[in-house]
Amino acid sequence: MQRLHVLITGFLLVNSFCGFAQMSFDARIDSIVAIMSLREKIGQTALRGTSSRVKGTLPEELKQAVREGKVGAFLNVMNTDYVDELQRLATEESPHGIPLIFARDVIHGFRTIFPIPLGIAASWDPEVARACGRISAIEASSVGIRWTFAPMLDIARDSRWGRIAESPGEDPYLASLLAKGYVEGFHGNSLKDPTSMVTCAKHLIGYGAAIGGRDYNTAIIHEPLLRNLYVPPFTAAIKAGAPTVMSSFNEINGLPASGNKFLLTGLLRGELHFDGFVVSDWNSVTEMIDHGFARDEKHAAELAANAGLDMEMTSKAYEDHIESLIEEGSLSEDQIDFYVKNILKVKFRMGLFERPYRDKDTEKRFYLPDHLQKAKEAAIKSSVLLKNEQLLPLKKGTKIALIGPLANAPREQLGTWTFDGEADQSITPFKAFNEQSPEVLFSPGLTFSRDRSKEGFDEALRLAQKSDVILFVGGEEAILSGEAHSRADIGLPGAQESLIEKLALLGKPIILVIMAGRPIAISRIIDKVDAVLMCWHPGSMGGPALYDMIYGKSEPGGRLPVSWPKTAGQCPIFYNHKNTGRPADSTSFVHIDEIPVGAWQSSLGNNSHYLDAGFSPHFPFGYGLGYSDYAYSKLSLSHKELAMNEALTVTVSVTNTGTRNGEEVVQLYVQDVVGSITRPVRELKRFRKISLDQGETKKVSFRLSSKDLEFMNHQLEKRAEPGLFRVWVGPNSSSGLQNSFSLKEN
Ligand code: GLC
Repeated sequence: MQRLHVLITGFLLVNSFCGFAQMSFDARIDSIVAIMSLREKIGQTALRGTSSRVKGTLPEELKQAVREGKVGAFLNVMNTDYVDELQRLATEESPHGIPLIFARDVIHGFRTIFPIPLGIAASWDPEVARACGRISAIEASSVGIRWTFAPMLDIARDSRWGRIAESPGEDPYLASLLAKGYVEGFHGNSLKDPTSMVTCAKHLIGYGAAIGGRDYNTAIIHEPLLRNLYVPPFTAAIKAGAPTVMSSFNEINGLPASGNKFLLTGLLRGELHFDGFVVSDWNSVTEMIDHGFARDEKHAAELAANAGLDMEMTSKAYEDHIESLIEEGSLSEDQIDFYVKNILKVKFRMGLFERPYRDKDTEKRFYLPDHLQKAKEAAIKSSVLLKNEQLLPLKKGTKIALIGPLANAPREQLGTWTFDGEADQSITPFKAFNEQSPEVLFSPGLTFSRDRSKEGFDEALRLAQKSDVILFVGGEEAILSGEAHSRADIGLPGAQESLIEKLALLGKPIILVIMAGRPIAISRIIDKVDAVLMCWHPGSMGGPALYDMIYGKSEPGGRLPVSWPKTAGQCPIFYNHKNTGRPADSTSFVHIDEIPVGAWQSSLGNNSHYLDAGFSPHFPFGYGLGYSDYAYSKLSLSHKELAMNEALTVTVSVTNTGTRNGEEVVQLYVQDVVGSITRPVRELKRFRKISLDQGETKKVSFRLSSKDLEFMNHQLEKRAEPGLFRVWVGPNSSSGLQNSFSLKEN
């Protein structure tokens, strides 16, 4: 074994001098695969899940499997001694010394926890995603974790879906910019850098389209929609260099992703030119039996291996059946060689052959001041101010009653997928306020978000009575969103609404702060509060971030990355919807409570709406208030006619008409009015966050080319079509100044 290692290392040294790294890269890999046994090749396709709960010593059978080259990668090995021992066994005792990759779900932080990804999406700032990736990688790599199952790139349009919390939101343009930020952040300057983490674009594909927002459920997505909405974030991640992709649990149009050759080979490799490796999701290979797509585990292995799945996570269908599938001719060994080469390519790119072991001297890179500062900034940039009746920001000295089940819930505010976050390092609103304003009065009122007991109400009401302003921090415990945690009722859980109603009777101003993994339906109580601030699950620094925002040291910087439903009954709801043949119309809409008794059947406006919930969300995609006000004027286009492959400039003036300096996210949307397939009523094409002093006006210009207007038509040709285009520039997806231009055929 050592001999081969010397050979490979020598080869590397020679070639690195020759500068023919890439050419010999493949040659090196070919030379290794050529001398590997089939069992060893199958071993490289195995991702073994183990729990960091492995106590005592490493199981002997696990060590023996590594010695025999039967494992290519591990998931969740969180004991650094185990990481070091397993890597030693792999590189020094296995037949060809091929190093292991160690993986973990490091989604929005490792020890220093950032806001949940839906919150990061609300920052509309790829730099926030980049910082989250970089800091997560610096911290996690110090314990040997070099592969993260992030970024999650599933477009989400349904707030009932638990994993909307991990999603980049409902828009492909915003999601694509975030995807690039995450990949570059996790990777750092080079995958060979020991603080770099290999990313995994997941979950391919359409996982967020699950029927009813029920996790793991069926996705039915027509081809153009798949390419125009769900594919772009994966294209962006692959272009940014993501070396791995994860197949999703769900079926798409009858084909489960892990056995879907159209997806894993046709689309991913054929169209997106992906050259890394695809890993299944947890047991998603053998789950094809439950899907009714595979007869048994052997058939599942055959389907997945012939579809283009390189590595199997946790289930053992490949380990148990690939050899016999090859023997009987149901699978070619060349296919396995292809997978092994893809996996070895990534290991080479990570520099694992030269440096298989983690850097021990940089063990403690957790919670560095810069990490905490970046996490706090992210929490501020992610928070979305939904309502403010001239209440925020508060003046110092205001007597606050801090109430609510999430006011002092350190573990809950970290949110979903935070196995390595630490509650004792999570600074809650109570800790932050108590530290800086000891006069703050605190009583949770409810012991946890689902608490239905009203025992704590009296104490909370008594304290509130003594205050000037009530700061209610409510929402969801972390467990109420994330994987497998879809909700049919997306209101505030437990007795939170009842407590808010009782507090409102005191006649004191109320600020409702929501910490949750999804938009929360607040239609029933929004009129009882004077301000609403959505902080998502804000992470380790949620408390200090909230303190700064409440007292105006910083202003909430977020804008909604998803439409905010009035009620679950509106889901799925999204801004980039189609117009339909009977578009909703506010002039003809009659609310259910206004319908005259005995109204004639067709008297109510036959349009696409709900009698009891109308047709628009509570707050639209892109919406968010600042602490100042802004006016848009003078929208102009450099051309009223645009030729193919030409560009025009859209210019608008934005004025800060408020009483404070602040920031505004200027958003540009277009509508392709007529297309060979129906087109969304609006599509986000550009945005820019600008800072404006009080009274200041700035001109903002965007360049728009015909390439930005391209879409996949029914013939799956990507092209822009001539015709009328409407343009809006404004503060969100349902307002703004409007203009138009025509795209001409050349
Ligand atoms: C989970 C998730 C996936 C995660 C994987 C490993 O079931 O679907 O996102 O990366 O298993 O934990």
